[in-house]
Amino acid sequence: MIKFTEVSKTYDGGGSYALRDVNLTVANGEFLVLLGSSGSGKSTTLKMINRLIEPSSGSVELDGKLIKNIDLVQLRRSIGYVFQGIGLFPHMTIAENIAIVPRLMGWPKVKQLARVAELLNLIGLPQNFSERLPEQLSGGQQQRVGVARALAVDPEYLLMDEPFGALDAVTRDKLQQEMLQWRTTLNKTVIFVTHDLFEALTLGDRIAIFHDGVIEQVGTRSEVLSAPATAFVKDLFAKPAKQLQEFKDLV
Ligand SMILES: Nc1ncnc2c1ncn2[C@@H]1O[C@H](COP(=O)(O)OP(=O)(O)OP(=O)(O)O)[C@@H](O)[C@H]1O
Ligand SMILES: [Mg+2]
Repeated sequence: MIKFTEVSKTYDGGGSYALRDVNLTVANGEFLVLLGSSGSGKSTTLKMINRLIEPSSGSVELDGKLIKNIDLVQLRRSIGYVFQGIGLFPHMTIAENIAIVPRLMGWPKVKQLARVAELLNLIGLPQNFSERLPEQLSGGQQQRVGVARALAVDPEYLLMDEPFGALDAVTRDKLQQEMLQWRTTLNKTVIFVTHDLFEALTLGDRIAIFHDGVIEQVGTRSEVLSAPATAFVKDLFAKPAKQLQEFKDLV
């Protein structure tokens, strides 16, 4: 379980807040989506879980322990992280990219290679891609490798920061469907950041809606759609529905 209690983050001594009084609980096995526009605090929230960013006030707990009291190396190994943008190392092969954490952990080479093979299989890429460089893969294929890398040491938690953000609509849709399948086989706690409403509604068990560093509402798909907690949430979902209707009226 991940728990945020009254978490705030300011970079200018309280003049402005990247995050303000965030309370959030993520249950084990849950798929939580953080939804919000650019600058609303989604990445800040995600990065606090693996301590890439420290809160200015408030606390973050993992399975009942304050994360600031957990050994940093151990903490980060229990958490897989898929970066915003693609974030593969350009001069490393696909196999080397996927096996970064296993290598750091000193796994024998044979075990690393076996894990790479297993993960390529999971993400649906041919085995002979392992010796390619990232630039020799399409954007969607690179994105899949990013997911494989995050899963390499079978972490309990998976943090995904707009993993499909840079992709065309068709590839994105395909990866979303695959994500739904991966999650049933993997059974992990996933926190997934997006600014795409439809992606949030497709993937999330629950959706946390961010706006200017504040969480406006956390709820299931049907809760946020049928019982918006604030005017902001109501507008957020009303506009696309209206646009969709106008588009349908045109054809
Ligand atoms: N190192 C920093 N110094 C000052 N302000 C920062 C810093 N990092 C982030 N911020 C500010 O914190 C706010 C939240 O940023 P954050 O990266 O969490 O947004 P986001 O929701 O992930 O946006 P996006 O969808 O564009 O990735 C933004 O206003 C940003 O400018
Ligand atoms: Mg971000």
